[in-house]
Amino acid sequence: MTRASPEPAPGAAALTCAEVLRAAILLDGPVPISHFMAAANAHYYATRDPLGTAGDFVTAPEISQMFGEMIGLWLADLWDRAGRPPCRYVELGPGRGTLAADALRAMKTAGLVPPVHFVETSPLLAAAQAERVSGASRHAILADVPDDLPLLVVANEFFDALPIRQLIRAAGGWRERHVGLVDGLFLPTVGGPPLDAILPDALRDAAPGSIVETCPAAAAVARLLGERLAARGGAAIVVDYGYSGPAVGETLQAVSRHAPANPFEAPGERDLTAHVDFAMLAEAARAGGAETHGPLAQGEWLRRIGIEARAAALANRPDRTAEIVAALARLTAPDQMGALFKALALTAPGWPHPEGFA
Ligand SMILES: C[S@@+](CC[C@H](N)C(=O)[O-])C[C@H]1O[C@@H](n2cnc3c(N)ncnc32)[C@H](O)[C@@H]1O
Repeated sequence: MTRASPEPAPGAAALTCAEVLRAAILLDGPVPISHFMAAANAHYYATRDPLGTAGDFVTAPEISQMFGEMIGLWLADLWDRAGRPPCRYVELGPGRGTLAADALRAMKTAGLVPPVHFVETSPLLAAAQAERVSGASRHAILADVPDDLPLLVVANEFFDALPIRQLIRAAGGWRERHVGLVDGLFLPTVGGPPLDAILPDALRDAAPGSIVETCPAAAAVARLLGERLAARGGAAIVVDYGYSGPAVGETLQAVSRHAPANPFEAPGERDLTAHVDFAMLAEAARAGGAETHGPLAQGEWLRRIGIEARAAALANRPDRTAEIVAALARLTAPDQMGALFKALALTAPGWPHPEGFA
């Protein structure tokens, strides 16, 4: 006899992310920050399109077509100088697919029309991507992308969404920061075994209360990227906000309706991010076998690869001049996205030097 799988009762509401996390904490105690962040972001991205002025935040490709076009031309230039091998275009966390559509259009002008692979966990955003880029394959993880050809990889504001762990210097030494429940509210707590031995020497004596962040998920993706590039060839560009660690400081943050919000309130309803440690990403990619270039401030990189010429061409149309001038400033000015955001390039050994990096 086969047993039918139980159907949810008609009209039964799914549990909210907060309810699921509350139950987990009540059953098994406080959860690491990484568990809280992973659960919150999985729910958040699965249930909404957060991008754009009507959403929670705006990303560079949603500001202007120039961003994706410059990335497409940069990749096409590398591919051309590498001898025009067959390649795959891979984008990690492609959002609405806007960057990919702009990059692929620019690549086509250079004769590069690669098969497209999106690494995306949100079914809702995958549907938006399919509207802008037809024929792309979707994968939940990078490891599922075929490993037969060189890869041309793009990751814009992907790594900042991956779950971080936080270590805090508590009274008895370094411990992991968790999230517990106090009077029904999610609040950070300190728990777990002593972790002093894994702190870099430079940080171990930081003042009591200091927080150090680490992102094993980002390191794993960067290492795999390095391995893939070293094995088959190709290049990657990672753009995000971040710093070069190791460093002391808490960067976990939430944004809702374009304003900062409490990261421990309303899990699954706010975008949770942390600044990316570019030194760690580069080290992991090099450990995988890739060469790394940068990080370099986004504004400087875009200027070096010619965004001002592209802006001048687009601004030639009088009805677009003001929009293009404003978008150029937003993407490149140091007091806007130009300095906070950084670009890190990875290349396969033997591939040409990437444009814009010293
Ligand atoms: C901040 S959005 C950036 C979107 C796009 N790159 C852009 O610049 O507009 C983060 C993207 O990463 C995806 N994402 C978040 N966590 C992910 C994960 N663990 N694996 C794959 N995709 C993820 C989200 O669904 C979304 O597409």
